Amino acid sequence: MFRSLPDDRLGYCLYRSVARPDLDRRSILAILDKARQRNRQIGVTGCLHFENGIFYQWIEGPWRCIFRLVEALRDDGRHMDMTILDQASLDQRLFQDWDMRFSDPEAASLFDWLADWRSKSGDQAAYVERVRAFLQSVDAR
Ligand SMILES: Cc1cc2nc3c(=O)[nH]c(=O)nc-3n(C[C@H](O)[C@H](O)[C@H](O)COP(=O)(O)O)c2cc1C
Repeated sequence: MFRSLPDDRLGYCLYRSVARPDLDRRSILAILDKARQRNRQIGVTGCLHFENGIFYQWIEGPWRCIFRLVEALRDDGRHMDMTILDQASLDQRLFQDWDMRFSDPEAASLFDWLADWRSKSGDQAAYVERVRAFLQSVDAR
């Protein structure tokens, strides 16, 4: 689905995945550190949230970079069950100042944020919007 998109246009991908059970905090910080270095080189920005063994990540940048990164992420054994929640073109980056912003429940809980809302709606587009709003609202680190 990514291949048909124009290479240099800006796009984003929001996905959810399950961390390998033995992934400790040090390993997560190592993933983040390396991700930030690489993203800076390839012009990708975004946000990674980790909570209860689940990753939510928003990546944005030129489509050709997003496409390659998604392929690399799919092959990465440090997480599994990668589910793409949303992907589309972008006019403007949401996380332009962040090589990869990081948040976890010490900053805010996405699960609490979703639990509060889930009772009111079961709509996928609304769910994605809710996750995006959370990622944009949490304290930056
Ligand atoms: C949860 C998670 C998030 C990641 N985020 C990024 C990222 O934002 N940028 C990045 O370059 N690599 C990220 N990685 C690492 C990639 O999966 C991959 O290891 C890296 O891009 C190198 O891939 P390559 O050796 O196939 O080029 C992440 C890995 C995990 C498990």
